[in-house]
Amino acid sequence: MLTSRRPWWQGGVLYQLYPRSFADSNDDGVGDLAGIRGRLDYLGWLGVDGIWLNPTFPSPNEDWGYDVSDYCDVHPELGTLADLDGLIAEAGDRDIRILLDLVPAHTSDRHEWFLDSRSSRAAQKRRWYIWRDEADDQLSVFGGSAWAYDETTGQYYHHRFLLEQPDLNWIGGEMRDAFDDILRFWFDRGVAGFRIDVVHALVKDPPGHANLPAINDVLRHWRALANEYEPQPLLIGETWVMELEKLAAFYGNGSDQLHLAFNFPFMFAGLDAGALAGVVRRTEELMPPDASLVWALSNHDVVRFPTRICEEDDARVKCALVILLGLPGTPVLYYGDELGLHQVQVPDDRVLDVHGRDGARTPMPWGDVDWQAPWLPLGEGVASVAVQREDPSSILSFCRELIALRRRRTELSHGRYEQLDAPAGVWAWRRGQETVVAINLTAQPAQLDLGGEVILSTSGRRESRGLGPWEGVVVSTGRMSP
Ligand code: NOJ
Ligand code: CA
Repeated sequence: MLTSRRPWWQGGVLYQLYPRSFADSNDDGVGDLAGIRGRLDYLGWLGVDGIWLNPTFPSPNEDWGYDVSDYCDVHPELGTLADLDGLIAEAGDRDIRILLDLVPAHTSDRHEWFLDSRSSRAAQKRRWYIWRDEADDQLSVFGGSAWAYDETTGQYYHHRFLLEQPDLNWIGGEMRDAFDDILRFWFDRGVAGFRIDVVHALVKDPPGHANLPAINDVLRHWRALANEYEPQPLLIGETWVMELEKLAAFYGNGSDQLHLAFNFPFMFAGLDAGALAGVVRRTEELMPPDASLVWALSNHDVVRFPTRICEEDDARVKCALVILLGLPGTPVLYYGDELGLHQVQVPDDRVLDVHGRDGARTPMPWGDVDWQAPWLPLGEGVASVAVQREDPSSILSFCRELIALRRRRTELSHGRYEQLDAPAGVWAWRRGQETVVAINLTAQPAQLDLGGEVILSTSGRRESRGLGPWEGVVVSTGRMSP
């Protein structure tokens, strides 16, 4: 058996959480690290293997932490370095690893590197950012020109996102050492890896155009650095490309660049059997043979999946969770996915994000303690953690069972994927030898022979004849214990 050398994240369950909205330890309305620490029991009970924290660094919060002003510290609203050390240690006691969110494509305009860079054309760090005499007509992702004129030095700097997020210049090399130190700083503190922001556009040369070979160079360099550590930290990239051929490039040869590259075509395939099965098949075909796969349906930038693809219907949400947790690779739950949390309609006067993404970032409804004056409003219409924990038919109870099943039945977390024939609207696949997953993504009952014993169903029933409307099941087809 080769089980012992498997890295923890391969087949493990990752949990992305938005620190400002997870749990608030001091009732100032903003979630914090001590709050997360206080909820580790919950995360252990749910069964996750690792947590990715959205940015925790000091930041003016023009883009909610994605405008970093110091990469080696903690935002005072979230806590201190000591709090983070404590969180890492206490999570570690429960076998839960902590990943941070690295933002290497740009800094805050208040980062000392940029203050130096903009101080004069001869500044030591002038070339750490992208400066030009002329602006072209490129637009930034958040609207308006991607170039900002700087009075002091009479040149324009490039910003793919906000004006307050000047892009770092990865061509030239000086950046590398500074980031090597940042990676080491966190790995030495026990951080188990990074989610890396905007990998698909990390190096822009010429400005505005992703330079893939140069991005691959940086990734190879970081992977080599990660290789120096034992256990090896995980590098998981935000690789926002809509063509799977392009996604493959971020894995390199399968073991020399990212460990995992987020699959956005999967996230946006809808709750459609044919489309989803097609993305999975093509992903399996196109990624390098040794690459591990990763699946997510929600994150802090997109509308929560129960609203976006499930019409806020609990049966469909459970089906989506079976998909997420039944595919080969690493599933990533976004906090609240396990509750079926809906996108929240944030009233105009409470909108804080420049891009209007607040509705996917609202406070976790714990139900046992109330948020005091939360920074964003809580949603309504979805039962709290406290209520769902007590209800065996809740989405939370179901999600937890599914995670537990992955642990017990390693075929479900590690078995090979093989698509099976199924009627239109039904997606069925085998994992390993004796485990079958089948989902009916239609409103009509479906006839098919499941060929074994149903060991988990979104509807709670156990007969193995066919599937009800919007029903998903896990089936044991052999003699293996359930
Ligand atoms: C991707 C992040 O996920 C998003 O929240 C942010 O606004 C942009 N990168 C810019 O850093
Ligand atoms: Ca707080």
